[in-house]
Amino acid sequence: MRFDFTGFMSRSRSNVRSVSFGASPSVTRVCCQVFCPKWPRSASVRTTTRRCCRPLFTTASTCLRILSMEDPRKVRPSSTFDMDKLKSTIKQFVRDWSEAGQVERDSCYQPIIQEIQRLFPSDQYDVSKVSVLVPGAGLGRLAWEIARLGYICQGNEWSLFMLFSSNFVLNRCEKVNALTLYPWIHQFSNNKKSSDQTRPVRFPDVNPQSLPLNSDFSMVAGDFVEVYTDSNSWDCVATCFFIDTAHNVIEYLETIWKILKPGGVWINLGPLLYHFENIANELSVELSYEDIRTAMVKLGFHIEVEKESMQTTYTENDRSMLRYVYDCVFFFFFLIPFRLKQTKTLKTALTTPSSTGGSHCLNLTFHC
Ligand SMILES: C[S@@+](CC[C@H](N)C(=O)[O-])C[C@H]1O[C@@H](n2cnc3c(N)ncnc32)[C@H](O)[C@@H]1O
Repeated sequence: MRFDFTGFMSRSRSNVRSVSFGASPSVTRVCCQVFCPKWPRSASVRTTTRRCCRPLFTTASTCLRILSMEDPRKVRPSSTFDMDKLKSTIKQFVRDWSEAGQVERDSCYQPIIQEIQRLFPSDQYDVSKVSVLVPGAGLGRLAWEIARLGYICQGNEWSLFMLFSSNFVLNRCEKVNALTLYPWIHQFSNNKKSSDQTRPVRFPDVNPQSLPLNSDFSMVAGDFVEVYTDSNSWDCVATCFFIDTAHNVIEYLETIWKILKPGGVWINLGPLLYHFENIANELSVELSYEDIRTAMVKLGFHIEVEKESMQTTYTENDRSMLRYVYDCVFFFFFLIPFRLKQTKTLKTALTTPSSTGGSHCLNLTFHC
């Protein structure tokens, strides 16, 4: 089975369907530098990583050429920003597609999946007609698991790093644990043993091609707010570690409100680690959970389930001396059907964008 990747990368919505694969030495070289910098002694690690990741790199290089139509010889050296993105994408393989990520997936994805099953049980619904959207799908495991249960499921992702990688794992990988990554090889601090840094992680822990034949699973590339503009389209929107990726979280809330069918549900789990806070020249609206909750109620959502303390991790190195735990909120909001037509707009007026990370003044005006 081949999963469709549909691209809406720009406002003009140029389609990038069924990309084919080729090789670009420059991109492969850059990727290999990221996997194995300053690691001259560990030739076997370098060789294995290179070998196992070559298909991923060639996928990326081909996509890059399709998207930019640039001469690959003119590709600029990678920035620190890009290198960091690549490293975090590699860790995302552990979270989504390895046995080592199982505990993390159980704490992050299972509450969402269980809520979907509770709300749309297969003995009461034809689940093949229940549509679930997963914005910010990362490497696609949550969306894939939902599709595996028979629901229509679409993942949406914006990052090219994530898209190349999810395309690779979903469309290219079949054999369980056939590939190896060294996700912690860049982490020189907080290692108890040297071998912790060089330990391999195998993936994928399941065959991504093993979805039932009648599954309806797809991935769509592009900015969530730009791609999803059709009203009343989805039965459920499931977000995991996503809403804090917004420049203005209110835009996400409005989009979710708009695209949900009357009576539809929004299930969310995650922290509010606003990605654009403290980034110079970037708009960032950092609402508290209390403010988000108020906005959703004003929009016409009813709060069904709310847990303000769900402890989870995100791409955790479980052998590191430094480990972060997120005290997440988990909720399920239900869009009250009769409020849908009455609720007109949710306007946000920002008096001072927080481009320097300083505090800003936010006025929310609700028209209900
Ligand atoms: C913190 S990661 C979470 C990934 C996945 N949901 C998980 O729990 O592992 C947030 C993801 O949202 C994606 N993202 C950020 N802004 C986006 C946008 N405007 N539209 C779609 N995806 C976006 C990022 O590229 C990233 O993969």
